[in-house]
Amino acid sequence: MRVLVIGSGAREHALVVALRRDPGVTAICAAPGNPGIAQQAQVRPVDPTSAESVVGLATDYEADLVVIGPEVPLVLGIADAVRAAGIACFGPSAAAARIEGSKAFAKDVMVAAGVRTAHSEIVDHPGELDAALDRFGPTWVVKDDGLAAGKGVVVTTDRSAARDHGAELLEQGHPVLLESFLDGPEVSLFCLVDGETVIPLLPAQDHKRVGDGDTGPNTGGMGAYTPLPWLPADSLREIVEDVVKPVAAEMVRRGVPFSGLLYAGLAMGQAGPAVIEFNCRFGDPETQAVLALLDSPLGELLNATATGTLARVQAPRWRDGSAITVVLAAENYPGRPRTGDLIAGVEAVEPNTEVLHAGTAQRAGGGLISAGGRVLNVVATGADLTEARARAYERITKIKLPGSHYRTDIALPAVEDRIALPTRV
Ligand code: AMP
Ligand code: GLY
Repeated sequence: MRVLVIGSGAREHALVVALRRDPGVTAICAAPGNPGIAQQAQVRPVDPTSAESVVGLATDYEADLVVIGPEVPLVLGIADAVRAAGIACFGPSAAAARIEGSKAFAKDVMVAAGVRTAHSEIVDHPGELDAALDRFGPTWVVKDDGLAAGKGVVVTTDRSAARDHGAELLEQGHPVLLESFLDGPEVSLFCLVDGETVIPLLPAQDHKRVGDGDTGPNTGGMGAYTPLPWLPADSLREIVEDVVKPVAAEMVRRGVPFSGLLYAGLAMGQAGPAVIEFNCRFGDPETQAVLALLDSPLGELLNATATGTLARVQAPRWRDGSAITVVLAAENYPGRPRTGDLIAGVEAVEPNTEVLHAGTAQRAGGGLISAGGRVLNVVATGADLTEARARAYERITKIKLPGSHYRTDIALPAVEDRIALPTRV
């Protein structure tokens, strides 16, 4: 099977690494890819948002399966175009991708499916902001009502900070979404979904804030770990049975069946799991940790999902132990990151660790430079989280990038047993 992966981040790098372990995958191309992926697969240029460009490349490459990593092409209907060209595609239709692309659609599906989620209101006029804020908080949750890669969200107990963010979004012409605050530890659960068939992968947790101890602004994700020692098997079953399956069934009922990866972002609250958001694709950086433990052929799982035969596939097997991802970010990320700096110390190969590229570029005269906010990911596995952490942090200290920063406490609250599910009411 020849596989074409669309995307250029560490998530796509992780997909390529895992696809290479699948004996059924005979050739891999990534587009546009990145310098790290280029060492492991063919990379080709593409405009991921152009159906013509993606379909043209898939046809030229004679791909048997196209895997679309990021949400933007999915929301634009690139998966529909690939399928219309007669090529299997892992990723939902534009209609189904609205579960991520339209908060209003997602809320509507959840209400119909009886799934717990935050109460929300849209504010599209500055004159309405204060009265709306009074109906929420404290804690206030203020979001950009559109695709914002996690960076458009402010969660705060400070009313004036909430107001400032809302006013700024409105000034830029973006409607503001206010939400009730969902309490409890967060879980990212990725499920392969093919109509009503739902196969969960390992649960993971993302660290969204830029600083240690969950301080500073939200980012696209500073690190993740899997599995979650504090999440009992019953809770996982509850998420699949009471959240993901009803949503998948509701989408089938509406005539927009979901095919691909349905990502449930949840808060485990006193009343049980509540949905913070759904995404229509693999999450970044959780995927990097989750796939590091996958012991089944990834190409087969993705192809079965894409061809509507997921129900006939064997449940995925997982390696024992734990995995973590630590993100190395550029100076000033998540603001406007400093780029163009030389990076050293990436090449060394060490057992049980992998350095994945996210925002890197090859300098014209040679050498690797930073080219984005999240620059590299160090992924490590171990017998437990303590060992995986030790390996990841040992490896990351050998990478040199001026001004770069990373969180030193990825998975630490879990290791120190500081995460507990709230008592159910
Ligand atoms: P989002 O971009 O919607 O995924 O939000 C980014 C992050 O903000 C989430 O991962 C949560 O940590 C936090 N967040 C978003 N919405 C809520 C909510 N209603 N209650 C609590 N935390 C939230
Ligand atoms: N892990 C956050 C995201 O992928 O949206």
